[in-house]
Amino acid sequence: PAQANGTSDLTSNILHSLEQHPQLDTQEAFPQTSQAEIKAALDRLASRRMVAYEAKDKELVVLTEEGQQISDEGSHEWKVWEAVKSKGRIPIKEIEKIVGPSAKVGQGNAFKLKWIKKDGDALVPVAENVTDTTRELLQHVGAHHEFPDPKQLKDYQKRKLVTTKKDITYTVRKGAKWALQIPVEVTDLTVEMLQDGSWESANFKPYNFQAAGEPQHAGALHPLNKVREEFRKIFFSQDFIEMPTGRFVDSGFWNFDALFVPQQHPARDLQDTFYVSDPAEAGEPGPDPAADAALTEMEADSQMYTHPDGADSTKLNYAQYVKNVRAVHQDGAFGSTGYRYPYSDAETRRLVMRTHTTAVSAYCLHRLASNPRPARYFSIDRVFRNESVDATHLAEFHQIEGVIADYGLTLGGLMDFLGKFFTKLGISDLRFKPAYNPYTEPSMEVFGYHHGLAKWVEIGNSGMFRPEMLLAMGLPEGLRCYGFGLSLERPTMIKYGVNNIRKLLGHKVDVGFIESNAAVRLDKD
Ligand code: PHE
Repeated sequence: PAQANGTSDLTSNILHSLEQHPQLDTQEAFPQTSQAEIKAALDRLASRRMVAYEAKDKELVVLTEEGQQISDEGSHEWKVWEAVKSKGRIPIKEIEKIVGPSAKVGQGNAFKLKWIKKDGDALVPVAENVTDTTRELLQHVGAHHEFPDPKQLKDYQKRKLVTTKKDITYTVRKGAKWALQIPVEVTDLTVEMLQDGSWESANFKPYNFQAAGEPQHAGALHPLNKVREEFRKIFFSQDFIEMPTGRFVDSGFWNFDALFVPQQHPARDLQDTFYVSDPAEAGEPGPDPAADAALTEMEADSQMYTHPDGADSTKLNYAQYVKNVRAVHQDGAFGSTGYRYPYSDAETRRLVMRTHTTAVSAYCLHRLASNPRPARYFSIDRVFRNESVDATHLAEFHQIEGVIADYGLTLGGLMDFLGKFFTKLGISDLRFKPAYNPYTEPSMEVFGYHHGLAKWVEIGNSGMFRPEMLLAMGLPEGLRCYGFGLSLERPTMIKYGVNNIRKLLGHKVDVGFIESNAAVRLDKD
């Protein structure tokens, strides 16, 4: 059969071969054509039942580079014999110069075959005519990809003249709807066909359910964004309002002081926190109009807020709040003895890359004091820590944070809430370990049993916000508040099986990794 170029030529070649032979072996008939092309052509015909085919694994024998050379130029022994024969006599020490590096092997074999012999220190011919069986055998292998005598195959493999290769060959036969040409096919069912009844005998083009879709070079969400969207849905389904987290740089006041983190706390050291040098100082704490507008809009959309117009930061007395925070740190206030150290205003004004999103929670809880009522807030955004970077730590990452304010909240309520929340992520059977945060008491680290990984994993940190923080804001005594936080990176790494955080975030991220990752359904794990 003729060689095919292009699928339509190939299909017609297949049909013409089958017309002459009852059965066709594609490896024999189209040795140069790729398996993928052959398969595509066969599927085209088989889907119309014009042919039927079967796939068979086949072991092919192929020439190595050296085998190909012998097939082209002759065996080493033949080259030696040929040289000796044409010169009549060659000194042994010159044979390599004439025949090349394979002279030694060739000479030995030629002796064994009695093609040449030694005469003093020279080689002379013995045979008048020889048959180069090695070359003939390799030429056969080159043409037919099989070895005539399987017993000899091992020997030739050892001599590295041939190797074997797995291949698929298809055995093709005529099918139930055999024809020498693909018949004209109808692709649309029309009103006319229905009216005149011709639909009954029409030859419809079959659907190809095996066809792969075109690759879509569309944009792709980063895995962190996919997981973030899942978390947002979970929060929104429970009437949480998303906090405005645009302030990556914030003052020491919101990041630390408002959260009752003492000014000597190690978290505030240069080794742990990035300070901004230009400008180095924030203004006095005050309302953030952009943040307030976003919160007001969110509240208006929420089912939970019966008084959506209630909170208003501009009604708040910030000067009083700043005084309260100073008092509760330095002298003790609101029933607390405080830390009793000289409180520095300069420290509150230092600008920092926020180390946690709890800085944003502090802003939102203080705003709530303008109209205290139950509220649920969450945020998922970036935070910065002066960490040494390794497989599980980056200097910037994302935190997921949830805060609930209500009357009569208890620690048991927090544990119950967290249990239900993480069950939605496929993590149940939580364990709690006492921990310490300056702004929560009690505080608990949260561990969860991950059924997918079959082990306990640390998933977050949580606690009841301290009265030192809430009362200083002006929130009423009975309004309690608990919160929890976790990184977005950890569940994402677990979900996508990423073991090095640098593959997920930062300059080493492979764009292909982002494009190829599947969508995520946390609750379906
Ligand atoms: N801010 C804490 C952290 O960075 C998380 C947390 C938030 C803890 C709210 C308690 C309450 O780990």
